[in-house]
Amino acid sequence: MRLQGKIAVITAASKGLGKGIALRFAQEGAKLLIASRNEENIRTTAEEIRDATGAEVIALAADVSKKADVDKLIETVRASYGSLDILVNNAGGPPAGTFLDFDDAAWEKAFELNLMSVVRVTRGLLPMMMEKNYGRIINITSAGVKQPIPNLILSNSIRAAVNGFSKTLSQEMAPYGILVNNLAPGRIDTDRVRELDQIAANKLGISQEAAKDNWTKQIPVGRYGEVEEFANVALFLASEESSYISGQIYVVDGGLVKGY
Ligand SMILES: NC(=O)c1ccc[n+]([C@@H]2O[C@H](COP(=O)([O-])OP(=O)(O)OC[C@H]3O[C@@H](n4cnc5c(N)ncnc54)[C@H](OP(=O)(O)O)[C@@H]3O)[C@@H](O)[C@H]2O)c1
Repeated sequence: MRLQGKIAVITAASKGLGKGIALRFAQEGAKLLIASRNEENIRTTAEEIRDATGAEVIALAADVSKKADVDKLIETVRASYGSLDILVNNAGGPPAGTFLDFDDAAWEKAFELNLMSVVRVTRGLLPMMMEKNYGRIINITSAGVKQPIPNLILSNSIRAAVNGFSKTLSQEMAPYGILVNNLAPGRIDTDRVRELDQIAANKLGISQEAAKDNWTKQIPVGRYGEVEEFANVALFLASEESSYISGQIYVVDGGLVKGY
């Protein structure tokens, strides 16, 4: 029970990586507030986590790319728990495509989804951590911050800004006992990755399985990661065990990224 009594907010948590992290935190004794856009999906996920762990889980429908929804999220955390130990900033991924595919509106949308969501949620919830001189902030980004991923220019560009944000915030918040780290997935088996494989398959005129094989060949451990394997690293960063780690990027990719 490494998170016994801790309160955690996890955004974009109705499925995939966010859900996996929420479940793992609940198994370790945390109380949760989880959010995603679709009310029915997030309620169902909260129920599943409650049934599996007995944890207290509040579900909230909120689109983190919309300021009004973020305000609602912050207000709900204040009104329900009034305190916070752990924040996982997650959101959906921006659309796949190359430079020639996107106009200003697409860039602005990606900026709101993958940078401003992190800025606004953190800004609203940080004071509760500062009050108690304790906190863990984990931003979910992508292995694309280490080695750009073909056909994902929006993600590769916007997530680089989250690196700058996190590193700077980690330095500003260290005196308050708040640690800030980024968690960067490579190919973890979720709907997002399956969708991206299908897009690549359509582009190349091959099957989704063949597109997946193309990736698997580049991953030294020879397979996609499981959500639980990713969630275990989030648990470490959320726990007391990571007490001397801040401002870092943890890449969870089975060795995919070839740089140091
Ligand atoms: N899986 C990987 O290996 C991988 C690799 C690199 C980067 N990433 C990034 O990691 C993040 C999570 O990926 P995933 O694989 O878990 O994706 P996923 O399986 O497609 O799940 C996405 C989750 O985000 C929620 N969501 C989407 N847009 C949202 C928004 N605007 N506000 C609130 N919630 C939102 C969805 O629920 P609703 O539909 O209910 O909103 C869903 O719960 C994405 O940014 C993705 O690009 C993942």
